[in-house]
Amino acid sequence: MQPSNGRETATTLWSKIAVITDLFAFPLKTSHYVELVNPLWTTHKLQARVESVWDETKDARTITLKPGLNWRGHRAGQHVRVGIPVGGMHYTRTYTISSPPERDDGCFTITVKAIADGRISRHIVRNIKVGDYLPIGLPQGDFYMPDAQPVKPLFITAGSGITPAKSMVTSLIARERLPDSVHIHYAPHEFDVIFGQELRRVAQTKPLYKLYEVHTHDFGEDKQTKAYFNEEQLRRLCPDWREREVYACGPPSLLASVEKHFEQAGRSRYLHIERFLATFAEVPKDAVGGLVRFAKSDVAVQADRQTTLLRVAEDAGLNPPHGCRMGICHTCNTTLVSGCVRDLRTGKIINEAGSIVQTCICAAAGDCELNQ
Ligand code: FES
Repeated sequence: MQPSNGRETATTLWSKIAVITDLFAFPLKTSHYVELVNPLWTTHKLQARVESVWDETKDARTITLKPGLNWRGHRAGQHVRVGIPVGGMHYTRTYTISSPPERDDGCFTITVKAIADGRISRHIVRNIKVGDYLPIGLPQGDFYMPDAQPVKPLFITAGSGITPAKSMVTSLIARERLPDSVHIHYAPHEFDVIFGQELRRVAQTKPLYKLYEVHTHDFGEDKQTKAYFNEEQLRRLCPDWREREVYACGPPSLLASVEKHFEQAGRSRYLHIERFLATFAEVPKDAVGGLVRFAKSDVAVQADRQTTLLRVAEDAGLNPPHGCRMGICHTCNTTLVSGCVRDLRTGKIINEAGSIVQTCICAAAGDCELNQ
């Protein structure tokens, strides 16, 4: 970690003062009053102020965030949860931090790509503006290089999966520890490459960093015309791939091919993968959805067999707790009161009352009632 010493000292000092002033602020805390002056000075929750927005491509935007006092430094490759208020509802999404920890202005960046059916990502790319305050979590994740850095990294990324690689490369450069690195990146066209200009400049000025862009669409074409990751291509672009530690991030189809290749080559332990989405198994054709009742909210809605219960609740106007939306953080956990749900990752049926249900990766498998 690279915490700021100044920030740590200020936080510690502030905590000591607050022990006394909280006595006078009861039943609230001093931090609640401080929030009225500057939301970044609060200690009862962590927020960040939007300092700038920058369009990387036609559908990807980098947002610079100034975090509050409780923030601690991240490691290049880690992600952060960001709360997004939209239309009176509160949503949470997880984004990789795209800036290196070595930034000296106390800020960090996230880079968000608007996806076709992603209402929150589209809202961020179009509507978030300088001066907005957003609730954030602390940096998380184990997709980062060990301190004893690998001798030769190979980055395989696609689309917005380039963000952790960009953070790692720029961090290595900032620390003057850039090793012999190969980066294969997939994007539809040259102009779709997020951080394209910046990383091309790095490749021109740092001979140790080799960037290979694979543009999968011909100019002006919407349909994919060239191959994604395959063995022949890997051998051609990175002949010594067997000697490298591999960091891969991108859509499920790319990661599945990469995973299969390195498994067959007996090199799975050298492959590190960061996913944006949970991988779901195919739902059986004869599976059915059902009536989902959210007991505490007293809301019941019809759901199909493959829409996650979290999405079903949100579409019904509820505001259920959630974090990663891919089965990792367990923020969305609730209990099954009755009925039957399916774990979409494994296909496993959960039908025992009292069982824990992760709503972000489970769907109705018949009528069911949740304690939510
Ligand atoms: S939201 Fe993280 S596990 Fe469901």
